Amino acid sequence: MADLNSLVEQAAQACFRSRRGVALTGAGISIESGIPPFRGKGGLWEKIDPMKYAHIDALESNPAEVWQVLFLGIADLLTKAEPNEGHKGLRQLEQMGIVQTIITQNVDGLHQAAGSSDVIEFHGTHAKLRCMSCDQRYSWEAVSLETVPPKCGCSGTLRPDVIMFGEMIDMGLLHRSQKLSATCDLMLVIGTSATVEPASYLPVIARHGGAFVIEINPEPTPLTNRISNLSLLGPAGDIMQQIVGKVSELQKSS
Ligand code: OAD
Repeated sequence: MADLNSLVEQAAQACFRSRRGVALTGAGISIESGIPPFRGKGGLWEKIDPMKYAHIDALESNPAEVWQVLFLGIADLLTKAEPNEGHKGLRQLEQMGIVQTIITQNVDGLHQAAGSSDVIEFHGTHAKLRCMSCDQRYSWEAVSLETVPPKCGCSGTLRPDVIMFGEMIDMGLLHRSQKLSATCDLMLVIGTSATVEPASYLPVIARHGGAFVIEINPEPTPLTNRISNLSLLGPAGDIMQQIVGKVSELQKSS
């Protein structure tokens, strides 16, 4: 098996050659910012049952409980979080003309905070609230959280503008993500367990469309050695900075 240095070198070469790179990110890229993942040790779904609190049926039947157990806790984590070296590395690859778009399953806004300019929020955003009756959007600052769920002016219930289990991905975002995946020449798949469709299928579309797929994750996933051309087993921040450093050297010497 190739050592990590050689894999970083190969990943940097692939990035250097790319002109239409896309990144697909998941909860793992934000772990180093202090946001726990969903699955695995210390994951959110170890503490709470997603079918009980993260399904649209739960929100519709018991919004106060879903707000107390899920939404307020996530909001608290996200207000404190800042982009880490993984997010910054993707921004640097954009500045180098390599990564054009990030498709993220994360709702934390950290790619935008790092300066990335084209971010598809595949599972929505926690930064805004949306009325379940009239669709009006609100900032968190604009509503009182003294009692939850907060209410819209139309008396509808407000919720974070995220996708819950049992809900459809926005069609426009889905089509754009599929098209980008089919036409990119490089896909960086960072910090996702690749277990939730349809996001998990995007690397498959990319590989079948001829893209070079690089996976960065401390653990193997269903993509490893099947869909990914290269799998770098390690934390996103450190590995991204190693890759960015090598791409920078390649660009300077070209
Ligand atoms: P998961 O929690 O399923 O997976 C997180 C991944 O990050 C795992 O594969 C870890 O091995 C990896 N990881 C851990 N530490 C890391 C590090 N330092 N650097 C890089 N990777 C690391 O999160 P997602 O794949 O994002 O959906 O989950 C997908 C979707 O499932 C979420 O968007 C959410 C969830 O249910 C909805 O809520 C609709």
